[in-house]
Amino acid sequence: MARPRTVHRCTDCGAAASRWSGRCPGCGAWNSLVEEVDAPSPARRAEPADKPVPIGEVDGSAHRPLPTGVQELDRVLGGGLMPGSVTLVGGEPGIGKSTLLLQALGAVARKRRRALLVSAEESTAQVRSRAERLGAVAESLFVMSETCLPAVVAGLAELEPAVCVVDSVQMLYDPELESAPGSVAQVRHCAHRLVEAAKASGSAVVLVGHVTKEGTLAGPRVLEHVVDTVLSFEGERHQGLRLLRAMKHRFGATGELGLFEMTGAGLVGVDDPSAFLLGDRHPGASGCIVVPAMEGGRPLLVEVQALVVKNGSPAPPRRSAQGLDPGRLALLLAVLDRHGGQGTHFGDRDVFASVVGGVKVTEPAADLAVAMALVSGYHDRPVPSDTVAFGEVGLGGEVRQVVNTERRLSEAARLGFRRAIVASSTPRAPAVIRVIRVTSVTEAIGALSITCQAPLSGPICDVVRLRRP
Ligand code: TYD
Ligand code: MG
Repeated sequence: MARPRTVHRCTDCGAAASRWSGRCPGCGAWNSLVEEVDAPSPARRAEPADKPVPIGEVDGSAHRPLPTGVQELDRVLGGGLMPGSVTLVGGEPGIGKSTLLLQALGAVARKRRRALLVSAEESTAQVRSRAERLGAVAESLFVMSETCLPAVVAGLAELEPAVCVVDSVQMLYDPELESAPGSVAQVRHCAHRLVEAAKASGSAVVLVGHVTKEGTLAGPRVLEHVVDTVLSFEGERHQGLRLLRAMKHRFGATGELGLFEMTGAGLVGVDDPSAFLLGDRHPGASGCIVVPAMEGGRPLLVEVQALVVKNGSPAPPRRSAQGLDPGRLALLLAVLDRHGGQGTHFGDRDVFASVVGGVKVTEPAADLAVAMALVSGYHDRPVPSDTVAFGEVGLGGEVRQVVNTERRLSEAARLGFRRAIVASSTPRAPAVIRVIRVTSVTEAIGALSITCQAPLSGPICDVVRLRRP
């Protein structure tokens, strides 16, 4: 009998290679190739081809999102789950994916829509006890504990639920396929079949996908192009805050951020994220400044911190960027070295920069705040705690304007901040905060009096008091 052909498949991106290598030729991930039996997918039925129709005659009414009732989830999805679509929710084990989706199913079922949870990891009794704790027990919520794909597809076709959650897709397997459960071939095949089943039943299917660093399970990236929407659930497992964001969304924008707090009674949406994120601030600490960042459609005040310490060893200085783009941090350090003045040279310093709360701020608007946190950390002198800063920093040390100025300023004012350092080119807008305009990082440093005891509003900055609306 012929030996089954094996391939080496990347658990990150799904690329196949005939020989093992330490680095995936497809996505460049290290140590992600695993050997798999290259089993052909079971033969597919030939489907009758659709005929072209005038777009005006297409019925679009069925294509409205179904709100799940979990507000932050609906915000990220731009209204809710689209009937007949497949959404992948990825995240590390223990982050709260099962909790979030059980709460969503409970909320859907409370609105008298059928909801189905296919639990491939927990027994129905375990699901029941979790549902009781979360207040998700409802008449039209159905549960099945199943790992076999044909049984799941049959259950979906029979019940035709409005929403079906499969937790997790990596535990499903099709006995027709030779590959092991959790392998790239199985996970991809199961996802394909569920996409077909979702279309046929009109159910919105949500797949849970664990992200693992070990590479033993096929990661959600393997499925990204198979599904309509990819959501990523993140957060520091030991802290309460959880962030939900859309990485891909066929039916809407991807910029929205959903914020939850993990409590004893499940996930609770955070109503005032800025206040929540600034809750544990220590005003007067050096190396810290608040930036009004834009997350999707809403402004979010987050604290940027920088710790700058002298590196006594001959080893190259350490640079650590958490929640910030490491490339951007390197650029800002270089700009400060060259244009920061006051002997701000980081060549012999270790630099640890981070955004508090596990939030990621990658927009260039955070540049000015990061630069101010670095200078403040370097000189161990605090930035006035009632001041925010935002603006893009150019390679010449110049500060450039960014979009959504007005919304950033009003959010800062709402949270009690009294001053904002912005680019001098920023258009004048009514605001309830004192706006200090600067043309360069040097001016910003002077305006914030980080390096000297000079008063805050020196001749180098043009202080504009704007009328209160
Ligand atoms: P879970 O939803 O099981 O995570 P995932 O499906 O992503 O693996 O959540 C697991 C963690 O959440 C667990 O450590 C306990 C915590 N948790 C709470 O704090 N409160 C709750 O009400 C629930 C259900 C879980
Ligand atoms: Mg789980």
